[in-house]
Amino acid sequence: MMKPRHILSAGQFDRAFLDYMYELINTIRRFDKTKDGLMYLQSLLPHRRAMLYFTQPSTRTFMSFQAACTILGMKASEIRDSSTSSERKGESIEDSLRTFASYVDLIVMRSPVAGLSDRIASLLDETPRPVPIINAGSGPDEHPTQALLDIYTLQRSFQSSSGIEGKTICMVGDLKRGRTIRSLSRLLTNYKDVKLLFASPTEYKIADDLRSFLLSRKVTFEETTNFRDAIAASDAIYMTRVQDEYDVAGESKKVDTSSYRLKYENLASLKKDCTIMHPLPRRDELDPAVDKDPRAKYWRQERNGMWTRVALITILMGVDNHIVLPTL
Ligand code: CP
Repeated sequence: MMKPRHILSAGQFDRAFLDYMYELINTIRRFDKTKDGLMYLQSLLPHRRAMLYFTQPSTRTFMSFQAACTILGMKASEIRDSSTSSERKGESIEDSLRTFASYVDLIVMRSPVAGLSDRIASLLDETPRPVPIINAGSGPDEHPTQALLDIYTLQRSFQSSSGIEGKTICMVGDLKRGRTIRSLSRLLTNYKDVKLLFASPTEYKIADDLRSFLLSRKVTFEETTNFRDAIAASDAIYMTRVQDEYDVAGESKKVDTSSYRLKYENLASLKKDCTIMHPLPRRDELDPAVDKDPRAKYWRQERNGMWTRVALITILMGVDNHIVLPTL
């Protein structure tokens, strides 16, 4: 298994990596159970520094990376608004990020610009001080760490029913501009006999590049406008919100999404062991009344994000081989 230098795209991961990551996260979580375990995790990276460069809004990705750094003893600095950096004085984003690389050992970046983290990773790889880059969301393009935590959550949910292979997974909402959809769909192609159901209004059908990718990987998938039938047939439902931050002229207001909302009354039609997920934040597509149902896994999914990010940082910083439980 090749360990990644950067985390840029879901397409870079294979099944061996996903299985390794699953075991690594489970082991890390066992260290969380005792004070000694947590102190051990904190001893792994106190000599390393991270920069969290988030110029697009975020709550959970930002906070979970910040928490992950703290868990590993790593110091984290942040920029959350480019108007407070020298970009305001006309510095290019490339020069800004190269400057961060002079001071830190890891850069986690979220940006509205598709492909920016790939560009920065290539640029830094040419410099005397290349540092790992983590793409924490790049425009409507990719959100690979979200997809990795989604895979972890699915694997946990299906651990007593032979894993992700052979499952039907339904994705709902703005599938055209949802970066979590693109990244998770790509990762799911690593599992045999997975069927993907894409339920959305016609305006929000999956983008052509994702459709071509799934066809090239011979993945079974179906695009539908029938939300009710799709959710009833699924082992997991992945709800998403409308991504209207990418509107050019308020076009989202013209799309009727009212029949793509998961409400309390839909729960009776779902499979008994169905897993309900959402990358969050949510709006009206996911009724808070659903939270009480034991099949709702999105709050666990959110916390899994922190442990997934701890695991990814240990891999990039080369200390994942120190995550070994002592034998008693
Ligand atoms: N899921 C996710 O990326 O959430 P935030 O935008 O709050 O980071």
